[in-house]
Amino acid sequence: MKIVKSNSYDEMSKKAADIVISLVKKKSNTVLGLATGSTPLGLYGKLVKSYKNGEISFKDVKTVNLDEYYPITPSNNQSYRYFMNKNLFNKIDILKENTHMLSGKAVDCDKECEEYENLISSLGGVDLQILGIGRNGHIAFNEPGDKLSLYTHKTRLTDSTIEANSRFFSSRDEVPEAALTMGIGTIMKAKRIIILASGEDKKEAVRGMLSPYLDTHLPASLLSLHNNVTLFCTEDVL
Ligand code: PGA
Repeated sequence: MKIVKSNSYDEMSKKAADIVISLVKKKSNTVLGLATGSTPLGLYGKLVKSYKNGEISFKDVKTVNLDEYYPITPSNNQSYRYFMNKNLFNKIDILKENTHMLSGKAVDCDKECEEYENLISSLGGVDLQILGIGRNGHIAFNEPGDKLSLYTHKTRLTDSTIEANSRFFSSRDEVPEAALTMGIGTIMKAKRIIILASGEDKKEAVRGMLSPYLDTHLPASLLSLHNNVTLFCTEDVL
């Protein structure tokens, strides 16, 4: 795994955004895999700035997001659809129909997940996947456990994830207990992956990810099997 270390969160976000920007300039119909959470917010801000400066256009870009809470309606301000619209999609010229997300109100979750896998294949796969890393080492909502799922699936969130994400809700009880998420295999099929990590609280997870062991209890460690992954991080993580 290649490591790009930065002195600040802003510098990290800029370096990661530059990768996205140069890809979109080179391939206007790029398929981007997107993540939610606090970490990619700086990167999304840089993309918006680049669009506003007339440097890039997203009108032919397609996106697929990693995951969504379940159950949740898209209009709920805690949904990942709401997050993406607010922080990126509403601020750039991307066509809404080209922004794909798992539905938090799917009636048949198995069908929703299978269709999502097919959708990603029909788009020609993900050119560049952006990832964050959970304090417990999860990527998307692939939580630590004895087994990891290859494909998009419905999962229960672990207590540590519910606890970590409760900061976005008014109380812990409001955090949904389940989610739909791309599987490890879905993520690993991306042609290129960038993973972002910032802050001391990610140190242990990053250390585990960079160790020479694969550990299903630290799902990000599986990324070592991919041949084009770059970690963009701040110094305090290493
Ligand atoms: P965070 O979430 O960016 O809000 O820390 C990362 C994750 O849980 O994957």
